[in-house]
Amino acid sequence: MEASEDTARRDFLYYATAGAGVVATGAALWPLVNQMNPSADVRALAQITVDISDLAPGTQLTVNWRGKPVFIRHRTEAEMAQARAEAVSDLPDSQARNPNLPDDALASDENRAIAGHEAYLVMIGVCTHLGCVPLGDGAGDFGGWFCPCHGSHYDAAGRIRKGPAPENLHIPDLSLSDEMVLTLG
Ligand code: FES
Repeated sequence: MEASEDTARRDFLYYATAGAGVVATGAALWPLVNQMNPSADVRALAQITVDISDLAPGTQLTVNWRGKPVFIRHRTEAEMAQARAEAVSDLPDSQARNPNLPDDALASDENRAIAGHEAYLVMIGVCTHLGCVPLGDGAGDFGGWFCPCHGSHYDAAGRIRKGPAPENLHIPDLSLSDEMVLTLG
């Protein structure tokens, strides 16, 4: 198998939990949701929790939230150092795109990562060009994510660096507990 195929396959592995801290594959998630009545279905999709306490540095989980993939990456020290070396003024999109911060927050690495747990980066995995799902695990020219649809390169903080995508990958509403349980929504 080609390395790129392997990466793509890993990117499409879906892990999700529905509030009880149990990890299940995406294949199991949809039947579970589909068995719920509509109101429960809506509630389940509005907010999910993911236990990321075992997520090792240099690895990424992809969960499905509100019908979209969400990348959860535990970054290495090298990835963080690379992202922090970039001046915000040099970025195509200087906005943090982080709804957990004020609207005018700039796209520094700190403003993209989870406050207090800056090794963790959580982003909606939808290319801001036309909506493809970028490849991860250091893909692209800037050590982050790469969208092969039209060649958009995102760096290790998920910021657009090259290609047609106009904005950094968006960050969802989130919170992280002391037990390293991430809540989306
Ligand atoms: S959809 Fe990603 S580059 Fe066009």
